[in-house]
Amino acid sequence: MTVPPSSMGATSMRTHLCGALRSGDIGAAVTVCGWVAKRREHGEHLAFIDLRDHTGIVQCVIPGTVDVRSEYVIAVHGVVRARPDGTVNPDLPTGEVEIGDCTVTLLNSAEPPPFAVDDRVEVDEVIRLRHRYVDLRRPRMQANLRIRAKVNHALRTAMDRQGFVEVETPLLWAPTPEGAREFTVPSRLHPGSCYVLPQSPQLAKQLLMVAGVDRYYQIARCLRDEDLRADRQFEFSQLDVEASFVSQEDVFEFVSEAVLDAAEAVTGDRPGAVPRMIWAEAIDRYGTDKPDIRFGMELIDLSTVFEGTAVKAFGAPCVKAIVLEGGATLTRSKLDGLTDRAKGLGAKGLAWFRVTEPEAADGAGATGSGLALDSPLDRFLSDPERSGLLAATGAGAGDLILVVADEYRTACTVLGQLRVDVGGRPVGEGPYCYLWVVDFPMFDGVDEAGHPIAAHHPFTMPHPDDLDRLESEPAAVRSQAYDLVLNGWELGSGSVRIHRADIQSRVFAVLGVGEEEAMSRFGFLLGAFRFGAPPHAGFAVGIDRLTAIFAGEGSIREVIAFPKTQSGSDPMTGAPKPLATGLLGELGLQLIPPRD
Ligand code: AMO
Repeated sequence: MTVPPSSMGATSMRTHLCGALRSGDIGAAVTVCGWVAKRREHGEHLAFIDLRDHTGIVQCVIPGTVDVRSEYVIAVHGVVRARPDGTVNPDLPTGEVEIGDCTVTLLNSAEPPPFAVDDRVEVDEVIRLRHRYVDLRRPRMQANLRIRAKVNHALRTAMDRQGFVEVETPLLWAPTPEGAREFTVPSRLHPGSCYVLPQSPQLAKQLLMVAGVDRYYQIARCLRDEDLRADRQFEFSQLDVEASFVSQEDVFEFVSEAVLDAAEAVTGDRPGAVPRMIWAEAIDRYGTDKPDIRFGMELIDLSTVFEGTAVKAFGAPCVKAIVLEGGATLTRSKLDGLTDRAKGLGAKGLAWFRVTEPEAADGAGATGSGLALDSPLDRFLSDPERSGLLAATGAGAGDLILVVADEYRTACTVLGQLRVDVGGRPVGEGPYCYLWVVDFPMFDGVDEAGHPIAAHHPFTMPHPDDLDRLESEPAAVRSQAYDLVLNGWELGSGSVRIHRADIQSRVFAVLGVGEEEAMSRFGFLLGAFRFGAPPHAGFAVGIDRLTAIFAGEGSIREVIAFPKTQSGSDPMTGAPKPLATGLLGELGLQLIPPRD
């Protein structure tokens, strides 16, 4: 983290910032304010205080004793001087200097902190969140908050520069069709009726296009009542973007510019142009629509090797493999664990082959290539299958081949996940590998009634080349939807929207949404579209995810000031809390006792 110039902290109470003092400040009479990080006394005539503010720690030397404890808030006045020979601390940015001849003013006392304000101390997350105000004092958390602010600033500046106008959209809104469960807000003035909190400003921003805003953006708070994970919170922020008279290409340009600006602002390096991959290729090569392209381990097709095989386990429409270099050392129990994981992900099983020198496998499974296969399945393989497996995978001695035979999507998805499980790296570890994934399918799966489910949302424009197959072959229709991926995380999503009523009706019909239902759910949008909707497209970048990756964190909770725990509660405020009975009456609500 860059430290601001020490003078930037000057206020009526202090002249400098603790962590910003350097040898250039030697000789200056300074007043600094902060929290006592540490106090040491050397007899009755000398005391040391490490004083902390958001920029770091500085050593203060007091001629005498001083009655302060950890986390007391104090002001220290003294003169900056070079540390005596032999006491320079190279690990501390202020380690060449100290403040000497200090006088201390107590600004506030403090109870002993619930845990040490120190990045090196591991603290249970619930305790951290209960005392988040103490947790946030830690240098790592201070740095994260500042990285986030830098990201927001860079995104805003880039959007402003590109002619986008920031418009705030309502938080009390009506349901939108984006798939997540929404938080509802009962209305006091309309007992029994509710607002919903927006899962994104999707429909509002489309209305702004009808309104002629032309280029809209917002750093938007979004709310979704979904299961929480490392990359998901109930509340999160998006750089939300929409523009009129644009194509997908234009959106890529606007969004890349903003995201790469943010990357440069935080890391100092501007990444090169973001490569692209077609969705179908991403699934085929990486088994996921958010490929982590920092490493290879691509999925290898073995369907021709095992065509007409006698091995029962491989008699499936698709046989695919990944190779873990050096993985032959994995123990049997680790391999059993991977098999369970594959089954948990929906595969019927997982076949593994340790590739060894022939002697190591007692000569069994020799392949003629000087290599042997060690696997419970080996004895069922024919010689051409053995050598075909090795040739297709290119595996060498010491490697491990993992094979899944199943329906195409299952084989891809399971191996794609195992690839990340066994070969992946923490998401926040460089290099930063961005990727546009394009040509998503229009629909993904079918609902209980057998209707296709919109893969993005029902306002996404089908691919122009696939429009005539919309009704006849919906599963084969591509959409003009696209994602931005960074290090295996979906960073953002967007699409070209449907602006023509005839195409929208056809999409609703395929989705099984009747005219009446469409009008009752999104009538306000469809109605507005009758008054002159321009062609438009947009995107939303997840700011929490972007910041977490730049901060080197594996969870977005670390870059949110006051996040919820994994189970959705806030140990500090106690939220969510039971509703007071009086309030229930006012809102026209009645509680039903929870079912067992
Ligand atoms: P989507 O639902 O894909 O698209 O969301 C866009 C991006 O928002 C982030 N995100 C989240 N971040 C943290 N916690 C969550 N629960 C969460 N959910 C989503 C992700 C994701 O890629 N309206 C469309 C965008 C558009 O079409 O313009 C939308 O919201 O980084």
